[in-house]
Amino acid sequence: MKTVVLVYSGGLDTSVCIPMMREDYGFERVVTVTIDVGQPEEDIKVAAEKAKALGTEHYTVDAKDEFAREYIFPAVKANGDYQGYPLSTAIARPLISLKAVDVAKKVGGDAFCHGCTGKGNDQFRIEFVMMALAPDLAIIAPMREKNLTRIEEIEYAKAHNVPIAQSIDKIWSVDENMWGRSIEGGRLEEPDYFPPEEIYEWTVSPREAPDKVEELAVGFENGVPVSLNGQIMPPVELIMKVKEIAGRNGVGRIDVMEDRMLGLKVRENYECPAAVTLITAHKALEALVCTKDELFFKSMVDRKWGELAYAGLWFDPLKEDLEAFINKIQERVTGVVHLRLYKGSVTVAGRSSKFALYSEDLASFDSKTFVQSEMTGAVKVHGLQARMYRGLKRK
Ligand code: ARG
Repeated sequence: MKTVVLVYSGGLDTSVCIPMMREDYGFERVVTVTIDVGQPEEDIKVAAEKAKALGTEHYTVDAKDEFAREYIFPAVKANGDYQGYPLSTAIARPLISLKAVDVAKKVGGDAFCHGCTGKGNDQFRIEFVMMALAPDLAIIAPMREKNLTRIEEIEYAKAHNVPIAQSIDKIWSVDENMWGRSIEGGRLEEPDYFPPEEIYEWTVSPREAPDKVEELAVGFENGVPVSLNGQIMPPVELIMKVKEIAGRNGVGRIDVMEDRMLGLKVRENYECPAAVTLITAHKALEALVCTKDELFFKSMVDRKWGELAYAGLWFDPLKEDLEAFINKIQERVTGVVHLRLYKGSVTVAGRSSKFALYSEDLASFDSKTFVQSEMTGAVKVHGLQARMYRGLKRK
């Protein structure tokens, strides 16, 4: 039986793919897979119900722990960022694709189907992993191939008994996982349209946030967060807790112009409370334990890591190489960072580590350990070549 494995979110696009696979592409068996990366439980339930109503063989894969350990934690170590976006959707796509590959191998799939359009980044991220891990399977992207308008899509759905009630009045296009939430579409596509309060679900408005500072101590071991206010927590629980704490203080709202891989500029809104908070803390700890040269060099490595992660090149050899460097440095990124959350901002209030490259005795105004008089000679050679250059100009 010709079998297709559909990466299924339960939304309109991927639901419409189900009858299309049968009628237009001739698959007798449609297998749907929904990957749980920490999106609302309701969405996962709805996806399973719709899949049942549409008569597919459905799988739900709980990938939350793997997502936290193998995708989010490496992103923390690399201070994962692309143009101010903490890569929330970007790092989940390879894992989603990987799980679809696993299911395809299990059920004997002949092809994959996904609902990505031809305008975005997700098509690259999803297909890269499929091509890398299951090169013999075909990949079908009906949304990209058919170029349907939203009206045509809804007509098609109605004609094929695809439930549309939940999708039809949705103005915003949303993608969620525990590391962040992206909101696109509607008037948000206008770069100068002020984001309305209704697009936010995880963060309160900074204006409405408590008028009281909330303190949070994040403990790190080898570059990854392991405890909150002294309490050791497993990765998923810790990330979810930070998301809640930061969210109730209005921390993590992001509005950026983003250069997509294709070169298209798009206006993007995100809520990434956990990502913004944990990366702020992680950077503060690195600043305490790394040398000046390490910090400078790592900022370049991090930036390249962010570009590769944005492109979904999860198995790129350069990414592995960069991670070898990043992981080496993280051996010393152990300690505690104290944060203050207040009305939309997160600031560092203190940091400590047994690997601190800081000596109060050397730096203090009150100490004589540092022999200041020895500096006279050192200062004399400072900017020597620049001074010679000035001299030439004077002539
Ligand atoms: N611009 C972000 C990214 O490329 C968010 C994409 C959201 N994807 C989606 N299918 N709604 O990672």
